[in-house]
Amino acid sequence: MTGSLSDEAAAAPFVIAIDGPAGAGKGTMARRLADHYRLHLLDTGLTYRAVAHRILAGGLPLEDEAVAIEAARAVDLGRLDREVLSAHAVGEAASRVAVIPEVRRILVDKQRAFARRLPGSVLDGRDIGTVVCPEADVKLYVTASAEVRARRRLAEIEARGGTAEFGRILDDIRRRDERDMGRADSPLRPAADAHLLDTSEMDIEAAFLAAKDIVDRVLGARGRA
Ligand code: DC
Repeated sequence: MTGSLSDEAAAAPFVIAIDGPAGAGKGTMARRLADHYRLHLLDTGLTYRAVAHRILAGGLPLEDEAVAIEAARAVDLGRLDREVLSAHAVGEAASRVAVIPEVRRILVDKQRAFARRLPGSVLDGRDIGTVVCPEADVKLYVTASAEVRARRRLAEIEARGGTAEFGRILDDIRRRDERDMGRADSPLRPAADAHLLDTSEMDIEAAFLAAKDIVDRVLGARGRA
């Protein structure tokens, strides 16, 4: 983060909201931006994953709303274990509990409290620019075609020594998109004032630089860069 941004931080937190579908590269982008501008980082997907994981670990049904609400209340943002929560089955289950409005309300309250921290934060998810932080200083909507996202996911799995079938991954991604974009409460969609970034033809570095360029322009326009 630039010196003048830190100086002004006492006034209000600087918030970067990043939304987009699964596998678009928003997690890596969020981490790079948080490092670069020295901001706090919250992957809000982990909060929905934590709810799903608690239910699965207890052997309880994902459809039971009372159980999901209890699990949402128990989520502690300081204790989100990415290693445990990154399992594919947990992501799939997270997308299912994420349709429950009361679960969303409880998690959104926690995410908003996080976003009030100084000097500011990068939050990534599905509804950050539209619902969690509609007043965010910068909103990015990061996408890539379903085929490109499936190819990236397959490469990740293979890099870890695993194997998977491309067609299956693609089906999974399409199903998850449909659920995340089609739900009644806070569906995934770009905020009206979001900057759209299609990373289909970009590598990680190019995507980061494109995002940084947008943030720098916002800071420059405010005389904060
Ligand atoms: O980004 P992810 O794969 O970790 O997210 C898992 C699921 O959580 C995703 O399919 C939908 C849900 N989610 C959400 O509804 N709202 C968010 N802000 C973040 C994630």
